[in-house]
Amino acid sequence: MKKPWAGRFTEQTSKAVEAFTESISFDRRLWRHDIDGSIAHAKMLAKQGIIPKNDAEKIVAGLQEIAREIERGDIHFRTELEDIHMNIEMELIKKIGHIGGRLHTARSRNDQVALDLRLYLRAETHAINDLLGALTSGLADTAEKNIDVIMPGFTHLQRAQPVLLAHHLMAYAHMFERDRQRFQDGLKRINILPLGSCALAGTSLPIDRGYVAKLLGFDAVSENSMDSVSDRDFAIEFVSCAAICIMHISRLSEDLILWSSEEFAFVELPDAFTTGSSIMPQKKNPDVAELMRGSAGKIYGDLMNLLTLMKGLPLAYNRDMQHDKEPVFQAVDVLTRTLTILADMVPRIIWKKERLLSTADASFSTATDVAEYLVRKGVPFRTAHEVTGKMVRFCIEGDKKLAEITLDEFKRFAPEISKDIYSVLSARESVNARNSFGGTAPAMVKEQIKRFRKIR
Ligand code: ARG
Repeated sequence: MKKPWAGRFTEQTSKAVEAFTESISFDRRLWRHDIDGSIAHAKMLAKQGIIPKNDAEKIVAGLQEIAREIERGDIHFRTELEDIHMNIEMELIKKIGHIGGRLHTARSRNDQVALDLRLYLRAETHAINDLLGALTSGLADTAEKNIDVIMPGFTHLQRAQPVLLAHHLMAYAHMFERDRQRFQDGLKRINILPLGSCALAGTSLPIDRGYVAKLLGFDAVSENSMDSVSDRDFAIEFVSCAAICIMHISRLSEDLILWSSEEFAFVELPDAFTTGSSIMPQKKNPDVAELMRGSAGKIYGDLMNLLTLMKGLPLAYNRDMQHDKEPVFQAVDVLTRTLTILADMVPRIIWKKERLLSTADASFSTATDVAEYLVRKGVPFRTAHEVTGKMVRFCIEGDKKLAEITLDEFKRFAPEISKDIYSVLSARESVNARNSFGGTAPAMVKEQIKRFRKIR
């Protein structure tokens, strides 16, 4: 087949080179955006009197028909036509004849591909926004439903202080809400029209870029034609948002993997989201959470791929940039799949409430409460810390809990102590007392959930 750019060539492209340079095997995903962009472009060309109105109507109708055919799977894309742009253009010419050749007026594949990628990432941003919304709603609902559940909070993965399970879950809700906002913010830089920049320098034809922007729902028209065809910052930014998000997912996965072990025994993952072992009949493995945790490597790789691809490229368009699509698509696929399954799984996790509470009550987790009790009695915090540390050692040596120290023994550690000390020693009292803004007291966490529901 004759290539649209064959005019100055005397020799056929070698098959190996065709296979090496093609992108249709992956950029076919952009077909709908490519057609939307072309329809808007044709309408603008007609409005400006650059092509006859009749021809534009035929072009638009032809493109719409091609869209239906692609949807039905009736179009066979051809490697020798390189990419989605030339495949669709040639299909149009096949359908409506040489007037189809007017479509590429005042346009280059360089601004066309930039347009398609922006339209694609705009749509994917909306989809990811919805998935993150579903996930954070699920976390907030689960938090609300389990508002009375107490668990140990950890630092250094050592039991630290009792917290509400709801507080722990809401920490993740806040991470994912920041992700959502980061993706949304990226739209400001994605939603700018590059079309009309042409190859790199603009065109001598009287185009109306503002009109195309309006038809396609762009907020603005790009200012510099060279920047427009060589900029992939918006894609790098999108993938970096995805990288941060999958990092958050990997942290939540890690918590769930640990918690579902017999050692922790904090949760049971729903059967539908776990798998068995081919040799050990008793096993129920958290493979889904592990695969989610492991997915981070793919998206980090995609980000490195894009940054390295763009590094050191001279202005303006370079063919290297054709390699931008696979990492972008992979990042979208991995994140979308992971978020979908995570949002489904979270509301179905079974929380082992008794075990969570008994673990929170053990291991001197209310030692800080004793120190703060002494502060309220006028003891400087450093002294209170030291004295409480001695009580802990006394308990370890005598194999008892803080609550088992007698009042006389307490007084020997600090004469300021009276019998109200016994009201600060349980996990529940500890949690109830942490009512500083943003703290884990139930009243605070309830307010936190309420405010969270308002911001999104
Ligand atoms: N398939 C190309 C890409 O993805 C489209 C742009 C090609 N432009 C060119 N001048 N060869 O980047």
